Amino acid sequence: MKTTKLLAFLVAANSLLIACNSSSSSSTADTSTKAVTSMHWGNVDGKDVKLYTLTNKNGVEIKISNYGGIVTSWMTPDKNGKKSNVVLGFDSLSGYLAKPPYFGAIIGRYGNRIGNATFKIDTTTYQLAANDGKQHLHGGNKGYDKVVWEAQPSDSTASLMLTYLSKDGEEGYPGNLSITVVYTLTDADELLMEYSAETDKTTPVNLTNHSYFNLTGDVANTILGHQLQVHADKYTPVDAGLIPTGELKAVKDGPFDFLQPHHIGERIAQVPGGYDHNFVLNRTTANLELVATLSDSISGRKLEVYTTEPGLQFYSGNFLDGSIKNSSGKPIQQYAALCLETQHFPDSPNKPAFPSTLLKPGEKYTTVTKYKVSLQ
Ligand code: GLA
Repeated sequence: MKTTKLLAFLVAANSLLIACNSSSSSSTADTSTKAVTSMHWGNVDGKDVKLYTLTNKNGVEIKISNYGGIVTSWMTPDKNGKKSNVVLGFDSLSGYLAKPPYFGAIIGRYGNRIGNATFKIDTTTYQLAANDGKQHLHGGNKGYDKVVWEAQPSDSTASLMLTYLSKDGEEGYPGNLSITVVYTLTDADELLMEYSAETDKTTPVNLTNHSYFNLTGDVANTILGHQLQVHADKYTPVDAGLIPTGELKAVKDGPFDFLQPHHIGERIAQVPGGYDHNFVLNRTTANLELVATLSDSISGRKLEVYTTEPGLQFYSGNFLDGSIKNSSGKPIQQYAALCLETQHFPDSPNKPAFPSTLLKPGEKYTTVTKYKVSLQ
């Protein structure tokens, strides 16, 4: 009995090995079907910047740069089969060097705001860069969105591994933080983002991606006509500096109630300044769960957001004002795109009641988020 099982296992393992070998040899032999291609894109800080193209079996194509780990474009078909780009981005590196507000980038060491740009661990007070009035936002003056990451494309799958060593003291944070982000475009048209990190001193960590979506694929349309559903009974109200007050407030019946799908424009006038709030996700497990769905009737596309994180920042593109033009020269107006940033809650280092963002030496930070763009 045991021998038969062992034999069956060996036969299965062997055929898997043959399958793996043949697929890897065919992908190296035929570069036209390579899942990841790259081109030179420029230089920053004396380092080589490349633009990688990930393609899946359906012909969906995502471009990512090792500058800021930026997702620069996501070409996907609409209900008529016409492909267009559903994220804000530029064709050339110069667009990003002009510092657009975090388009498509990896955000860290702490995504979102830390009040008064300061926090305390035990008895030590840390002063961070104050780059948003008095607050610290998205990792400071030179966050992970503005550094060159080491890149390792996969030979066989549409996957790109990015690594970065954030030095002790960078933007005021304690500890050398060694970070890995793996982006994978799956054959189910999903962009999987796997984040991991390790530190040598206790530090807050809160990594996210800052892609701006407009599912119509045309920035001339606002996202006010998109419908959004967020599985969150509560959100974290903020003060004038967009720092959470600490309260977890029920969304019930107000403009933050997206438990059922609502058009974004329906109640935005009731939210001074527009949506820029963290939702407290209704999680049932620690696994990857569907937390939000965005849909657009013009293109017939929908975006599903899955994450292991406890929070989701819904930012409706309030500060976009037409001053930045996309690669086709169209101005990016207010509400031209929106962000659904998976995260821990803003200002957690100063809010002991919020889920902790502290990473200690010997521990491993791991989070996973998945964006899936498909047809409704
Ligand atoms: C985040 C913040 C917003 C804004 C944008 C970038 O999503 O929550 O307040 O700073 O980034 O403009």
